[in-house]
Amino acid sequence: MSRSIIEPVVGRLLIGETWQPPRGDFASSNPADLAETIGHFPTATAAECAQAVAAAREAFPNWRRTSRIHRAECFERLARLIDRDTDALALLMARENGKNIAECRAEVVEGLHMVQYVFGTGRMPVGEIVASELVEKDAFIRRKPWGVVAVITPWNFPFAVPLWMLGPSLLEGNTAVFKPSEDTPAMGQKLVELFVEAGFPKGVINLVHGDGPVGEALVKNPSVNVVLFTGSYEVGKRIQQLSAEYPDRTVAAEMGGKNAIIVCEDANFELAVRAGILSAFKTTGQRCVSASRILVHRSLVKKYAASFAALASKLKFGDPLDPANFAGPLINRAAVEKVLKYNALAEEEADEVIVSARELPPTSGCFLSPFVYTATHRPELRCLKEEVFGPHVAIVPFDGDDDAVRIHNDTEFGLSMAVITESYRRMRLFREECEYGMGYVNLPSIGAEVHLPFGGVKKSGNGHPSAAGLIEAVTHKTAWTVNHGTEIRMAQGLTAEM
Ligand code: UN1
Repeated sequence: MSRSIIEPVVGRLLIGETWQPPRGDFASSNPADLAETIGHFPTATAAECAQAVAAAREAFPNWRRTSRIHRAECFERLARLIDRDTDALALLMARENGKNIAECRAEVVEGLHMVQYVFGTGRMPVGEIVASELVEKDAFIRRKPWGVVAVITPWNFPFAVPLWMLGPSLLEGNTAVFKPSEDTPAMGQKLVELFVEAGFPKGVINLVHGDGPVGEALVKNPSVNVVLFTGSYEVGKRIQQLSAEYPDRTVAAEMGGKNAIIVCEDANFELAVRAGILSAFKTTGQRCVSASRILVHRSLVKKYAASFAALASKLKFGDPLDPANFAGPLINRAAVEKVLKYNALAEEEADEVIVSARELPPTSGCFLSPFVYTATHRPELRCLKEEVFGPHVAIVPFDGDDDAVRIHNDTEFGLSMAVITESYRRMRLFREECEYGMGYVNLPSIGAEVHLPFGGVKKSGNGHPSAAGLIEAVTHKTAWTVNHGTEIRMAQGLTAEM
């Protein structure tokens, strides 16, 4: 399809059942060609944010009282629409966030998997029956939805990550206000249009567009019970601080990473190189689970660095619509500047730069090729500590398993990791001793599936994972105890005599 015949997206807010009149406060553009505008979007005012939260609040009681199975069935309809629109969604995503079309398709499929998981979960057991000290009593652990959930999501996974959050939230009976990233508002809006088409009742999902102040207006709204966030540590921390005002507010925050792959001396070498390349450069290094550190046993490090550099230099970064390309551009010019700044810093801190980055044509886009260096771990090296979010990776030698664990954990983050080994003993050591949320063996550090929990520790997250793990954040447990006798008998041997 030629780009010129693609209609621009007309941005609107959805408040209750009403799509608001369009306003062009900001534009979304194609990072592969900044001259191409994807659409114009309104920045929600504080009043519009409040209206969206009020609409979600108003819709909550009826949605909560709907059968869980009927709520799940809305997701079955949504799944069919996603399946119908896979190609169009992938194309829009490729144009708006610059990921290669093959990856965009995979992301639409990941979103579809989440929706299918949620639909299937609707008929699965929920809650627990527990014993009582007294035989006449039945005791249950039941879950209740919190109420209104604010969903604030990033541009790098503009379809799957919102569905990780919206899926379990709505299934459990919550209602939502969704703010997609200001870099991918068109994808966010398309997703909400599909929810509406699938027949979710009015007010169950509301859409606001805009950047930081819009997110902040949602977070400061006392009627929001849960904030679900994926993005930077700085923003996640701000959300947590603002949320401390509200005693029963839950925040589930997925934040940055400084993820590592550990290549042991017994590694399958080819697999280790390929796992490193995929972890560092797929999505142009812009996954929160991308690895920017490859820890390699000292006996292998020279050979590994040479093979890795040779393969990294051959990777094709180019037009996202050409599936033959390995990856596309960075998200915007600011991202290019940031990565170039870290590349310059690494030139000072590295032992040796083995692949230098080049800005790639077309110059109207945000293309940058890989940057690879070797560096001996020292705690003060900023390049080995700070998240870069781009095609920038360090190869770091280590001397033994304990040294690898020490280096792995010597960061403030703990999101994703991988170990490449043929030894089950080593695998177990790293599984137990490394600090992470998602761990992989003989795989890249990317590529999670939706039926697993997804989240991190330390500065990467606050222990409320998303995807399949989200139920803990969007519901609260209640204890419910029923007496089937005709007399009152008490636990702990307490007498009921009066
Ligand atoms: C992210 O990087 O923000 O595990 C999400 C993966 C994908 C999701 C990544 N399923 O790589």
